[in-house]
Amino acid sequence: MRIITFVNNKGGVGKTTSSQNVAAALHSLGYSVLLIDMDSQASLTAACGVNSSLISGSVVDFMGGRRFSELAEHLTNGLYLIPASNLMLDYQESLREHKEYPVLLRTALKRLNSSHPKAFEYVVIDCPPALNVFTALALTAAQRFYVPMQMEPLAFDGLVGLMEWITTNHLFEKFGGLFATRYHPNASGKLPHEVMRMIQKKYSKKLILPHIRQSLSLARAQGMGLDVFSFDPHSNGAEDYLTLARQIDRQMTQLEKSVSLS
Ligand SMILES: Nc1ncnc2c1ncn2[C@@H]1O[C@H](COP(=O)(O)OP(=O)(O)OP(=O)(O)O)[C@@H](O)[C@H]1O
Ligand SMILES: [Mg+2]
Repeated sequence: MRIITFVNNKGGVGKTTSSQNVAAALHSLGYSVLLIDMDSQASLTAACGVNSSLISGSVVDFMGGRRFSELAEHLTNGLYLIPASNLMLDYQESLREHKEYPVLLRTALKRLNSSHPKAFEYVVIDCPPALNVFTALALTAAQRFYVPMQMEPLAFDGLVGLMEWITTNHLFEKFGGLFATRYHPNASGKLPHEVMRMIQKKYSKKLILPHIRQSLSLARAQGMGLDVFSFDPHSNGAEDYLTLARQIDRQMTQLEKSVSLS
């Protein structure tokens, strides 16, 4: 079971869009995929066409030991979602004080993997726009995390702050890379290139992943509760997310090989 997550404490940078569409792209490559919504705003849940006020439980119940079959939403063959709801916020304190925090999500996924061996080849987790309990649970569960960001003047400062937090919390070794979302080379003069150069200078070039162009189809698909591959498979959004997912998949395959060798 390969577990990845999309993290950025800045809001509106494309975490949910990336979680949904990288998951859909991996599914189109033939993998069975489980999506997990760790954000009490439940945007991913809504983007998958699921009404969060009608769900029988959320990821908090999954971590509490509720059966997967009682909670999971079946999106299509080989693609499932464990949803979120705004009630999750009430559990922040009790989760933090739980003696097994922050491994609760990792433990629940291990339990799922042993009761349904090989049911899911990938787990893709969407995080809230905060470095809170839910993000910490996702980062602990994941083998790799990815940072979507928008190429705007303050993005680089925000990124430096995020990377400092990641380093302080000994998570840098799980950093799979960052990528630009809503990328538009001419949107603000030379800015995107400048920001990219600054990033390449500070971090390894290998950590810069393929960007996602601005694409109306991505927003429209979400509004209809669909991923972009179901909505408009020939759009820039579909093309870019497939390219990104292939790169992530190559990285995860390599990681698996290196772990099995060591
Ligand atoms: N490449 C893109 N092109 C056009 N619109 C996009 C693109 N990526 C994301 N969007 C739109 O931008 C908005 C914010 O994206 P998204 O919800 O994925 O960000 P987020 O980081 O998850 O936000 P939050 O921090 O609130 O959870 C959404 O309306 C989404 O449809
Ligand atoms: Mg989101």
